[in-house]
Amino acid sequence: MDALTALTTRVSSPRLEAPGPSGEDIEQLLQAAIRAPDHGILRPWRFLVLQGEARHKLGDIMVEQLLAKQPDADERSREAMRGKALRAPTLIIAVAEITEGHKVPAWEQILAVGAAVQNMMVAAHAMGIGAMWRTGDMANSELAKARLGFAAKDQVVAYLYLGTPSGPGKPLPAENPADYLRDLP
Ligand SMILES: Cc1cc2nc3c(=O)[nH]c(=O)nc-3n(C[C@H](O)[C@H](O)[C@H](O)COP(=O)(O)O)c2cc1C
Repeated sequence: MDALTALTTRVSSPRLEAPGPSGEDIEQLLQAAIRAPDHGILRPWRFLVLQGEARHKLGDIMVEQLLAKQPDADERSREAMRGKALRAPTLIIAVAEITEGHKVPAWEQILAVGAAVQNMMVAAHAMGIGAMWRTGDMANSELAKARLGFAAKDQVVAYLYLGTPSGPGKPLPAENPADYLRDLP
């Protein structure tokens, strides 16, 4: 698939199943990620690749995070939360490790990691791999961040779920770029 086709036809795949990307596929996705633009060449991106059993550890963190926020969460909610880590055969967690006190502000460093995630999504699409970018409480929780091995200053940018799209792909929405154009006041 050529680059323009990949860029203009990508859709998210909320339902993913095995098989997940191979080791070689993951290497290619990461190569695409680290070609994202990066003001100051700070290389703020860090990636945690979780597959197989490692996802259960993430499930434990998700439950711990839920209980920190909602101590009375019942068994059903806890199990539903735990299951979120198993929604896809592979997950890449992307985190911005922020260089503080630099002329490049934190928001630009976070955007660079966002661009890296988008590069992975488009590369995955071009390779026939389904992907879904999720955040939610697990991206904004101090506890989760610490459990993932990061400091309070850092920002979890994406839980990128990867696998084989389950069922027919989502149709492309009819969108018109003109709807988003504005004139300079
Ligand atoms: C920073 C970011 C965080 C997101 N977090 C979530 C999320 O937690 N849950 C969710 O269902 N979609 C989330 N999305 C949106 C989906 O990944 C997806 O882009 C959206 O459903 C539109 O589908 P499409 O990518 O096929 O156009 C997020 C997107 C971005 C850019």
